[in-house]
Amino acid sequence: MPRSSKKYIQVNGYIRNFVHFNPSYLRPKKFLLIISFVSVFITLLIFYKLHFTPYKYSQFLIGISHEAYRNGVIKCSMIKSNKLDNVYPRTSNPRFVPGTKTIVFKNGMILNGKGENILGDLILKNGLIHAIGQNLSDEAEAIVIDVKKKYITPGLVDMHSHATISSWPFLTGSDDGNKETYPLTPYVRALDAINPNGPVLTGSLSLMSGEGFVIKMRPVDTSSVDDMGINAKIDTEKERVWRWLKMACGENPKAQHSPLKKAPTTRLGEAWLFRELFAEARVLKQKQDDWCSAATKLSNNEQLNSYFPEDLQLESLVALLRGDVKLNIHCIEPFDIETMIRHSLEFNFTIAAIHHASSAYMITDIIKKRAKNNITVVLFPDLWGHKKELFQASTKAPKIFANAQIPVALKSDHPITNAQHLAFQAAKAYHYGLDEHNSLAAITSVPAKALGLDHRIGQISLGYDADVVVWDSYPLSLGATPLEVYIDGIPQFNTSLSVLSNETSKQTPSYNKNVSMPKSDLTGKPVKSQTTSSVILKNIDKIFVDKNRTLSSIEGPISIVVKDGIIECIGINCMIPSNISSYEIIDLKGGYVLPGIIAISPGLGLAEIELESSANDGQVVPIINPDNVEDIIYAIDGLKLGGKHLETTYKAGVLTAVTAPLSSKSVFTGVSMAFKTGAGSIFDYEPIISENVALHAKIGTPYKDDRIPTVSGQISLIRKALMKNLEHQNLFGRVARGDIPFIVYVDSKDEIASLIRLKIQIKNYGGNLKLVISGGAEAHMLAIELAKNEIPVILNPSRPTPKLWTAQHVLTGAPITNKTGIDILYENNVKIGIGVDLYSLGFNSYLLGFGLERNLVWDAGWVLRNSKELISQEDAVGFITWNLEEILGLKMKNGLLKGNIANFVAYNGNPFDINTRVKIVAGGGRKDILIDPEQD
Ligand SMILES: *[C@@H]1O[C@H](CO)[C@@H](O)[C@H](O)[C@H]1NC(C)=O
Ligand SMILES: *[C@@H]1O[C@H](CO)[C@@H](O)[C@H](O)[C@H]1NC(C)=O
Ligand SMILES: *[C@@H]1O[C@H](CO)[C@@H](O)[C@H](O)[C@H]1NC(C)=O
Ligand SMILES: *[C@@H]1O[C@H](CO)[C@@H](O)[C@H](O)[C@H]1NC(C)=O
Ligand SMILES: *[C@@H]1O[C@H](CO)[C@@H](O)[C@H](O)[C@H]1NC(C)=O
Ligand SMILES: *[C@@H]1O[C@H](CO)[C@@H](O)[C@H](O)[C@H]1NC(C)=O
Repeated sequence: MPRSSKKYIQVNGYIRNFVHFNPSYLRPKKFLLIISFVSVFITLLIFYKLHFTPYKYSQFLIGISHEAYRNGVIKCSMIKSNKLDNVYPRTSNPRFVPGTKTIVFKNGMILNGKGENILGDLILKNGLIHAIGQNLSDEAEAIVIDVKKKYITPGLVDMHSHATISSWPFLTGSDDGNKETYPLTPYVRALDAINPNGPVLTGSLSLMSGEGFVIKMRPVDTSSVDDMGINAKIDTEKERVWRWLKMACGENPKAQHSPLKKAPTTRLGEAWLFRELFAEARVLKQKQDDWCSAATKLSNNEQLNSYFPEDLQLESLVALLRGDVKLNIHCIEPFDIETMIRHSLEFNFTIAAIHHASSAYMITDIIKKRAKNNITVVLFPDLWGHKKELFQASTKAPKIFANAQIPVALKSDHPITNAQHLAFQAAKAYHYGLDEHNSLAAITSVPAKALGLDHRIGQISLGYDADVVVWDSYPLSLGATPLEVYIDGIPQFNTSLSVLSNETSKQTPSYNKNVSMPKSDLTGKPVKSQTTSSVILKNIDKIFVDKNRTLSSIEGPISIVVKDGIIECIGINCMIPSNISSYEIIDLKGGYVLPGIIAISPGLGLAEIELESSANDGQVVPIINPDNVEDIIYAIDGLKLGGKHLETTYKAGVLTAVTAPLSSKSVFTGVSMAFKTGAGSIFDYEPIISENVALHAKIGTPYKDDRIPTVSGQISLIRKALMKNLEHQNLFGRVARGDIPFIVYVDSKDEIASLIRLKIQIKNYGGNLKLVISGGAEAHMLAIELAKNEIPVILNPSRPTPKLWTAQHVLTGAPITNKTGIDILYENNVKIGIGVDLYSLGFNSYLLGFGLERNLVWDAGWVLRNSKELISQEDAVGFITWNLEEILGLKMKNGLLKGNIANFVAYNGNPFDINTRVKIVAGGGRKDILIDPEQD
């Protein structure tokens, strides 16, 4: 009843004002109104008396039961307890499952999460880390595994995930992440929505979205959510148990509530709603404290005559004010963060972590000095740009925080990114300059500490929970994958290492205190970017010229000479030009050269900020009548050059963008364009490669709308449009006859099958549909048919997830599946391309780009790693370059050949290593060559 009680007090106050200060209202005309006010006043006064008088402890009113009073006193004592400091090391893990065998890892490279690297043995016993050291004596009945110097880390801690609270595949029936009807719901609990058959936070669409819950990702026999909880079976007399709250400010809450015409619609409103509710919580806390303090003053045979003041809706906020809750706030803009810190000082609570704080690097001083405690920032290293708040995000942020001694954690925000690849977030932060220890700590010990669980998880230390991961490679390397995962000492996968079980180490381990870690040159001083018109690239290891040709240093020293943007020489035996002083000479030190990468992008050139209508081209009007073919729009008409997205893309060596018009609910999207990402104006240096690359369409559940509410209707529209126009000169006719490709974004195997049937049908009528599957989460299930019908697949994203009911058959890769969809398509000779990683949540039909064009070379690298030698480096390069050129029929005229316009990217190493950086960008619509580009 807290909300109503507040209202009564307000109305009460209003009426007093009215009576005392505004006698003009007593004019006869207002009499009726006054009568009604007064009657409300009287009613409320009676109500108020009945309900509120017992709050005052007095001797002469009706009493409360002794039991109710005792319950209140117990609550007072509980407020005081639960403030223990946690004890190290623990001697038992209540989650231990009896019968679990002791595990002895021999000869592991242990990265303990605290910055120490130990080459030695590790024993997991009774659900705890039992011993760490060298030449540990064998335990009875233990499973002994020689990990042969593989890396072992603590189990990863994902501080920001919606896994299990919103399902994969997405179903409205099981999506419970955001309670959107009311902006202040600190009282709802993720706990009540977790589906264990799937650390969880509630959503960010509300100001106070609710209470988070930390779970261990280990299935339990009981299928009980409580049993998955990190605090299951904890003895709360001995151990402090934290709770977790999630709040959000800035764009999300106002964007969510504005269309509903409900507060908050502005940041002003957000701040007021926060303060109003915090003030209520503060009042309640004070009442409780007063009650408790009064109770302590009574003798044993006395009692208070009022109930302990309580309110379930304010309970979690009062707990926050009492310091029993770790508060996680989703606030992005620097001034939003400052506002929250201001609230925290006004109401005396602490903020444990700021999530998505991608612009917070601008206010390290405020975070460091003004807040009451060390606040952890939790962020993505690279995802940026689809909304205003994320437009200033910087890849340098993690390093800036680390330098300011602000703890940095990285998160998946599952399903925004796949929690399976949390370690990749750390690898990317490492690439962008966060040091090795902080990168690893950002997914282990730092989030554990921010959650108040640093006495149990996030480290390999004695007495910690036996949660460890054995990796196939250095965990910060590109595509590093767990071989084995142990939670509470229980193995979670049956993988390659199990084969070694029971097999004691035969060879003598060579222990060495100073474990040498993979070297990185990332910690060196940043080099300043510069440009030049002519360059000589020496000491190249490989040049990927085209599908048929890779030049390698094995054949002799290879180099590239570029003069005024034109390749003068490439390969072995390049003459050193006589006027050498006009060239910049770059030693690539064994690096690779790739043709300019091609991005099939969700918005480059059309959308700078996807969620701001003034900063993008807008969404197409759906065509539902195939006769309206002339209403199909061409992306080229909306092209906008320059801007931050294109700049970061260009600097990453992604020199061509292919973009279709932006569309949410439309089967036909429009005609895509291909252009050079570095171009400043369409009148310079031939930036347009093609004005009409392909006709694009999308089918599937996310694109159903009122006009075409069925997937069958979507396919039927495509069939009508193409069949009807087979003989016509219009766009649909040209597509049906194969003059330009037809790219359909589709994931479901059955929907892809329908499109294959359509292609065959059109062929039988004399057409030649050049169908290309984009998306393609389930395409591997039709690999043979796709190959037979010469239908290429552009995997988009390249590591698809089972996000939809119609994409459940994706293969997400090791350690969950042996193969990926790409492996199977490849084995069956389907032509493959890789598109830009994008995001579509559930039925949100926007395909949001997160500025991840620059990661394409890593996406190709992941394919290499996942395929375990099946796919060659050349083929992986092809997926992001010449295959796309072929699939789209692009006529680039700038291959890596003498006399051509230079259009390539050179790396200071192998680009499939996370440590490698772009050294040179040549072409991309610019005449100047960029040296040592730096990502924002
Ligand atoms: C471990 O055992 C090996 C072989 O028995 C021995 O050479 C080495 O000195 C031992 N190391 C320690 C730290 O005891
Ligand atoms: C602020 O809260 C802390 C507990 O979290 C408490 O110890 C301190 O006394 C409070 N300060 C004020 C001014 O209320
Ligand atoms: C806060 O951070 C500083 C480093 O900036 C560290 O020395 C201090 O121990 C931290 N405090 C706590 C409570 O962790
Ligand atoms: C290891 O040995 C035990 C008994 O010695 C046996 O029960 C178990 O199945 C073995 N494990 C493997 C993976 O071979
Ligand atoms: C690669 O070789 C094939 C077969 O010899 C040839 O048809 C094709 O044109 C070549 N491609 C390039 C880019 O040279
Ligand atoms: C992976 O491959 C191994 C060996 O071929 C096989 O035993 C195992 O069942 C496969 N696992 C999956 C998930 O397909």
